[in-house]
Amino acid sequence: MTPPVDGMSRWDSDPDLGKVVVPEEVLQERVHALGREITTDYEGRPPLLVGVLKGAFVFMSDLARAVRQPVEIDVMAVASYGSATSTSGVVRIVKDLDSDLTDRHVLVVEDIVDSGLTLSYLRRSLLARQPASLEICALLVKEGRQRANLDLRYVGFNIPPDFVVGYGLDVAERYRNLPDVRVYQGPVPVD
Ligand code: IMP
Ligand code: MG
Repeated sequence: MTPPVDGMSRWDSDPDLGKVVVPEEVLQERVHALGREITTDYEGRPPLLVGVLKGAFVFMSDLARAVRQPVEIDVMAVASYGSATSTSGVVRIVKDLDSDLTDRHVLVVEDIVDSGLTLSYLRRSLLARQPASLEICALLVKEGRQRANLDLRYVGFNIPPDFVVGYGLDVAERYRNLPDVRVYQGPVPVD
C-alpha cells in the first residue's frame, strides 16, 4: 500500500535533516507554473532541455512533463573542484552532451545556484557551440551568494543560503529522493 503523502515518513525522524525549505506540494505547483511559462515562451521553437547531472534529474523529469509541447532532452555532468559543500569555480565536464547545439534553442536545467560559478562556466562553454538561443532555468537560487552575473531566465525559488538536500540534491549521494527540499544539518562529509 502507498503511504499517505502527508503522513510521517522515515525522513521525519532523521536528525540530520532540518526544516523543510520548500514542501513537496509547493515544489510541484511551481514546477508546473514554470512548465506553462516555458510552453508559451517556446511556442513554435521546440527547446532542447539540457539537464546538469546529477542534481537536476528530478527537477528536469517533472519540468519536462509540465511543458505541454515537444521537447528534446540531453544531459551533461560536471564536476567542480572544491569541498563537499562549496564550489571552487573550476569546473570539468565529466559527461558531455550527445546533441549538436548548433542553431538549437537550448534551455539549461539546473538544480541550484550557489556561487553561480558552475553555471557561469557552463554558459560560456555552451555558447561557444553556436546555439540559436541559450537560457537557464534554475529551481533554487541561494540569496546573496552569487559571485557571477548569471541572467537566469527562469527561477523556481529564492532560498536562504543554507545547505539543502532533496528533490535531486544530495550530500554524499544521500537524500536525492527526498520529495521536498530540507536544510541539511548533519556532519559535513570529508571528500
Ligand atoms: P555553484 O557553482 O557555487 O553555484 O554551485 C552549484 C552546484 O553546487 C550545484 O549544481 C550543486 O550541485 C552544488 N550545490 C550548491 N549548493 C548546494 C546545496 O545546498 N545542496 C546540494 N548541492 C549544492
Ligand atoms: Mg548541480
